[in-house]
Amino acid sequence: MGEIDGRPCRLTVCRGCCCGTKKKVPGVDHKAQLARLSAIDDHAGRTVPVRTSKCLGICFQANVVVVQPSQKGHAAGGRPVWLGEMTEDGLLDALDDWIFEGGPGLAPLPDALADHVTSKDAKKPKKRKRPKKAKAIEKERRKAKERKAEKASRRPGKKGKGEKDGKKRGRKKDERRKKK
Ligand code: FES
Repeated sequence: MGEIDGRPCRLTVCRGCCCGTKKKVPGVDHKAQLARLSAIDDHAGRTVPVRTSKCLGICFQANVVVVQPSQKGHAAGGRPVWLGEMTEDGLLDALDDWIFEGGPGLAPLPDALADHVTSKDAKKPKKRKRPKKAKAIEKERRKAKERKAEKASRRPGKKGKGEKDGKKRGRKKDERRKKK
């Protein structure tokens, strides 16, 4: 056991304003996930301590989990690994396997987790802006539509024609009356 003596890996599980909430991450049993993470054992059968934390500042990556290396892993160069969008059970299984193998510094990161590595400085991706040209074209189209609608409202419609016909009919009636 001397080989794996020292502090085991530790997990920090974000449970702030977004992580662990149904509103932000629907369709996930967050309680069950926390229980699952709290039941992870390492190679030596030591239960990995789990701490929940307030918002870690990268809510767009909810649910966030930070894996702290074991003492031995730290000595081997392992550093805390931030994982984002940890919503699927398969990801928790991969995390479990990784910690069992030694975790940061001692075992390679499982492929399943590779796309989930993030950091506390991760920046929320900006919404793609539409090119200015497209915006200008749309503006022009909107203006043209407005102009067309304005013209249509000024032009006399069918009713106007009808009114003219009415006048004609009126005149004909008068002529007939005069003949009588
Ligand atoms: S609530 Fe988890 S990062 Fe904000």
